[in-house]
Amino acid sequence: MEKLLIEGGHPLKGTVQISGAKNSAVALIPAAVLADSTVTIDNLPDISDVETLAHLLEEIGGSTELTKDTLVIHPENMFSMPLPNGRVKKLRASYYMMGAMLGKFKKAAIGLPGGCNLGPRPIDQHIKGFEALGAKVTNEQGAIYLQADELVGARIYLDVVSVGATINIMLAAVKAKGQTIIENAAKEPEIIDVATLLTSMGANIKGAGTNVIRIDGVDKLDGCRHSIIPDRIEAGTYMIMAAAMGQGVIVDNVIPLHLESLSSKLREMGVHVEARDDSIYIETQPELNPVDIKTLVYPGFATDLQQPFTSLLTKADGSSIVTDTIYGARFKHIDELRRMGANIKVEGRSALVNGGSRLEGAKVRASDLRAGASLVVAGLMGEGVTEITGVTHIDRGYAYLEEKLKGLGANIWREALNAKELEEMKSL
Ligand code: EPU
Repeated sequence: MEKLLIEGGHPLKGTVQISGAKNSAVALIPAAVLADSTVTIDNLPDISDVETLAHLLEEIGGSTELTKDTLVIHPENMFSMPLPNGRVKKLRASYYMMGAMLGKFKKAAIGLPGGCNLGPRPIDQHIKGFEALGAKVTNEQGAIYLQADELVGARIYLDVVSVGATINIMLAAVKAKGQTIIENAAKEPEIIDVATLLTSMGANIKGAGTNVIRIDGVDKLDGCRHSIIPDRIEAGTYMIMAAAMGQGVIVDNVIPLHLESLSSKLREMGVHVEARDDSIYIETQPELNPVDIKTLVYPGFATDLQQPFTSLLTKADGSSIVTDTIYGARFKHIDELRRMGANIKVEGRSALVNGGSRLEGAKVRASDLRAGASLVVAGLMGEGVTEITGVTHIDRGYAYLEEKLKGLGANIWREALNAKELEEMKSL
């Protein structure tokens, strides 16, 4: 096991290239199960979630070739192998194997997913969708068993706007008989990306990116080649780092439209933000204004950027309120920021950040992926060295983090945990 060390206070300058979107990749790889021939996915981020999913496809009989940012998937020999335990528990997105395997084989058994602990994360809307399509769904010993004689299109209204449920129902419905209509669907760009892949495979999907998606089932899906959209959350994280420490940073290979809510909030803080064709230029200012943020479904402020943004707010001159309406308990980073000297109070779904004092390097632990990102932001801003354990969480979502940050002038490196730290990590 390793820890990340960051010596804070170094200005950031230069260009950082953004990788393909994690939250698209983790849905696109399971989607390949639905094809009858080779699917090639390009612009993949080099993160551990991608590797885990590629291994899962091999467990069900597929063969995969993963090079730097391309995954070639041969689904011809896949079969409906039950996956109640093991790798499926490592990441939340393994739930997409439910929709994909149900859609392809009419049968699946998948262990309830792991992933970041952000408080309760039910999957009732996924199940509601599968059942509406005709599947019998049971929950036995921590795994979901799905079975259908045939899947028939249905009209499904989501009670909660859910990215995962929208994608999972699309996966289960693309080969169902007749038309499926998903109402109150999520509109995130990753949903459009998955619909684009499925359409290239021969699916008939209309309305992805709006709140009503219509799917006309087809009998057969073929292989195709698809390039993943840029990761708006990785990009947003670097924009936040640049807003804190950037003396001219270009966040390159992005779709600026996907980052508008963040750009607006950074501008409100007084940060210089300039959207270009496929990049965003950021320059911090000596004084930053406090701002309130409330996380919302897309195109609102992304919950995944709430944690890194909170670190930035400690630098603002005054008080800001951060409210997370998506995950009301997504505040595990706050205790760690306090160790670094931040003055933040959590009340219910909100955190009150009293900014203005400089953070100090400390030993902190990443409890989940974006909590890790928030600590990296804090480490870059802090005085002295910050040591971050729980790095495996960060590695699930940020490709080449140290290389990218070193390229911008940060002083960041990795070390193996010493015996005492290993003991501490094991006891958690
Ligand atoms: N919800 C339900 N029932 C459901 C599904 C969701 O009540 O059946 C609730 C959730 O508890 C949450 C809200 O609906 O309060 C939204 O959840 P959603 O289903 O949209 O989240 P998700 O699909 O599980 C994805 C991303 C998350 C991101 C959320 C919100 C992936 C693999 N994960 O999760 O990303 O926070 O959407 O945008 O796409 C991350 O990247 O760090 C991450 C956690």
